[in-house]
Amino acid sequence: MQGKVVIVTGGFGILGRAVGEAALAAGCSVALVGRGSAPGIEKNDRLAILEDVDLTDFTTTARAFETIVARFGRIDGLANVAGGFRWQTLDGGELEAWSDLFEMNLMTAVTATKAALPFLRAARGAIVNISAAPARKAGAGMGAYAASKAGVLRFTESVAEELKEAGVRINAILPTIIDTPRNRADMPKADFSKWVAPTQLAKAILFLLSDDAAAITGAELLVAGKS
Ligand SMILES: NC(=O)c1ccc[n+]([C@@H]2O[C@H](COP(=O)([O-])OP(=O)(O)OC[C@H]3O[C@@H](n4cnc5c(N)ncnc54)[C@H](OP(=O)(O)O)[C@@H]3O)[C@@H](O)[C@H]2O)c1
Repeated sequence: MQGKVVIVTGGFGILGRAVGEAALAAGCSVALVGRGSAPGIEKNDRLAILEDVDLTDFTTTARAFETIVARFGRIDGLANVAGGFRWQTLDGGELEAWSDLFEMNLMTAVTATKAALPFLRAARGAIVNISAAPARKAGAGMGAYAASKAGVLRFTESVAEELKEAGVRINAILPTIIDTPRNRADMPKADFSKWVAPTQLAKAILFLLSDDAAAITGAELLVAGKS
């Protein structure tokens, strides 16, 4: 990955930071893109931080990516990590949660991919989308989340077909539960050793972005740790 330029959306979150660190360690130039601010992350020669980018807004996202290309010259990899979770049953829940989760999980990936596409075509680059294990089997209260993450899988599948001949690859990772401070707080009695570490997921994402995965597109990779 030496010398490649990688964008990480949701780059200020737990997994996004881990992907950024792994890409920097692999010799990439990295742009972390997210909404709000990125406290505690220091930019440097190979690390750009783009704050206040709502990844559901195409104009803002495209402008941010043009800034990255002006700085680093190209885009080789796009890790669509931005997303979020909400648990709610259909009966007790709000209908708005369905459109909110579709915006957060599916439209962020669609918008960022479309904005990066001209540059990814030029570099014959690669995209990794973050879906989630419930996209395959949803439990109670997981309907909106699982449907939005299932949308990420079908989006991945369709774009893989669309871009195959252009040499642009796109794959999806399906984590189960990631070992994050929020999950530890929400599930204090769980066995954390069964969960996937963000650093482990970052390695899988970097592999799919790298030339080692040159023959892989349209794939769904479950990363489940011991869960
Ligand atoms: N944590 C898990 O157990 C788990 C399991 C399976 C899959 N995943 C998926 O893995 C990814 C990363 O999870 P994480 O635990 O690292 O979550 P996280 O720490 O909450 O990071 C997600 C980041 O995405 C950002 N984001 C959301 N919508 C955005 C938008 N419209 N524009 C710009 N940024 C936006 C969030 O910003 P705000 O903070 O402002 O919302 C946040 O910084 C997500 O896609 C998540 O669904 C997580």
